[in-house]
Amino acid sequence: MDMNNKSIVSEFVLLGLSKYWELQLFFFVVFSLFYVATMVGNSLIIITVMANSHLHCPMYFLLSNLSIIDMSLASFATPKMITDYLTGHKTISFNGCVTQLFFLHLFTGTEIILLMAMSFDRYIAICKPLRYASIISPRVCVALVVASWIVGIMHSMSQVTFALTLPFCGPSKVDSFFCDLPVVFQLACVDTYVLGLFMISTSGIIALSCFILLFNSYVIVLITIKHHTSGGSSKAFSTCTAHFIVVFMFFGPCIFIYMWPQNSFLIEKVLSVFYTIFTPILNPIIYTLRNQEVKTAMRRLKSKFLNSNKASPFHYT
Ligand SMILES: *[C@@H]1O[C@H](CO)[C@@H](O)[C@H](O)[C@H]1NC(C)=O
Repeated sequence: MDMNNKSIVSEFVLLGLSKYWELQLFFFVVFSLFYVATMVGNSLIIITVMANSHLHCPMYFLLSNLSIIDMSLASFATPKMITDYLTGHKTISFNGCVTQLFFLHLFTGTEIILLMAMSFDRYIAICKPLRYASIISPRVCVALVVASWIVGIMHSMSQVTFALTLPFCGPSKVDSFFCDLPVVFQLACVDTYVLGLFMISTSGIIALSCFILLFNSYVIVLITIKHHTSGGSSKAFSTCTAHFIVVFMFFGPCIFIYMWPQNSFLIEKVLSVFYTIFTPILNPIIYTLRNQEVKTAMRRLKSKFLNSNKASPFHYT
């Protein structure tokens, strides 16, 4: 049974972030820079973790896995938006739209579970340090990563399955720069309004519950650190606050968009920039600027690289 046959609309028009060309030029420049920085920064994290055997531990494996998801999240819609600014071509096929929806929910769903895995890792490391090695074994670490992808796939399948049952016959202008359920749903000519709101707000409720859980575990971790003031505590404190900033920047907009799908489009657009463009770049920024271990490893990698390229006239220290 192919519900698609009912749809008359075969492509959508993505209106983008603004209709003024000055703003479009601004977004083109800024988002291009952000995109390049996201790809370079996250690749650097992955290379650094892979190349340094003393970073071969669950926390950094999870971090580099997060970098992979960040790069994917930055790539599912932003390059199309950037090139659309150049070409003026703004349409997206129905299938393209559903594909964007799939990947958006796949990567955000996976990222949420991975962020939870990272907080679990820090929780055990700080609150149950003696049992850390036995709880977070390499096997458990792989299992956490696999589980995050499985949950991501299941969640995005449910969203896409719902989107595919919607008939589209009327307006086809998507007032955003990528397809997502809250905007696309408003274009469907159905009266399953309640079901739609339900589908959308499940994403919000899941995100909210995960956020509350994460929030609690970081509060416990931070309190534990404060009560055991010893040598490594300020390092642990800065690691956990860094994690928490990422979590907050990522979850805040997600929760807002999905819990109140009837927001104005402007607010929704601004918020969607947060988790598709800002969060993917936050990881490299936060982890390289605040983590001494990563910084040292990167410096070592750079000098190794420079030594193997003796032709280079530059010598950084
Ligand atoms: C992702 O995590 C798994 C499980 O720990 C690890 O084996 C793998 O190397 C990680 N991927 C990257 C790119 O670091």
